[in-house]
Amino acid sequence: MLEVSPLWPADLDHLRIDSPAPQALAEFYAGALGMSVSPLGGDAYLAEGRQRRLVIGGGEARGHPWSAFALEDDAQLERYRRFVIAQGGAPLPSPTPLFAQGGFSVRDPDGRLAVFGVRGASAARLASGTAVDFPARLQHVVVASRRFPEMMAYYRDVLGFLISDTVHVDDGKGRLGEVNVCFLRGNFEHHSFAIFRAPSSASDHFALEVPGWDDVRRWADHFATLDIGIWWGPGRHGAGNNLFFMIKDPDGNNIEISAELETLPKGKPGRRWPADGKALNLWGPVWVRDTAP
Ligand SMILES: [Fe+2]
Repeated sequence: MLEVSPLWPADLDHLRIDSPAPQALAEFYAGALGMSVSPLGGDAYLAEGRQRRLVIGGGEARGHPWSAFALEDDAQLERYRRFVIAQGGAPLPSPTPLFAQGGFSVRDPDGRLAVFGVRGASAARLASGTAVDFPARLQHVVVASRRFPEMMAYYRDVLGFLISDTVHVDDGKGRLGEVNVCFLRGNFEHHSFAIFRAPSSASDHFALEVPGWDDVRRWADHFATLDIGIWWGPGRHGAGNNLFFMIKDPDGNNIEISAELETLPKGKPGRRWPADGKALNLWGPVWVRDTAP
């Protein structure tokens, strides 16, 4: 059994993505993902739909300055803050306006902030009058990193995420060698965060979990009405066992629609996969990130 840290249970609640044209990108999300858009001040906008919300701000295209994870209450947040400090983390102020007072952040080895807090009253608000209101819950976010070992160690040891599955390159002798993909979780769901080894650090994708296969089809049909094509999938990931497909927003951010993501009991170790592609797609082609620079 893996020991569970005070992070458990935590859910991905929202993230910030940057764009040279944040209002236009927010309007894309309004139509594509059924979100209503409201200004947050400055050049930032909140795009919010049923169980999904994003902060979209001004900056370089595909910028992803922080991800925000929600804990259950103030008592858990305080226990977790003490844990992070004891593990060598250095809490910083929370950058998000969407959590209640008392949240904090930490800077990971790639320079991105991981934010922790308790949901404020606005989290219960549902979108209204949007083009689509199909269920889709923001569930996981993934980054690519050129500091892969440091990132994996930081999220596991300092932040207390549990490692679910790992993917391993061949060690040259036909056995599992170094890890190049790591899936991490803060609750029963297989992963709420994942890291891919890559030549450069960047945003990778975020995913919306839908109730089932019918909803995967419903979202694909909806995207078709907007001429938004699927660029990867449909398929089934080996690690996590979830059905998926991916589209891109106008800035090139990758959005995944996912269903049937597996759950792992508290403390249960995950699996170790060879880097032969099956971990990423049991049905067909693979999106490879770990290539030579
Ligand atoms: Fe994913």
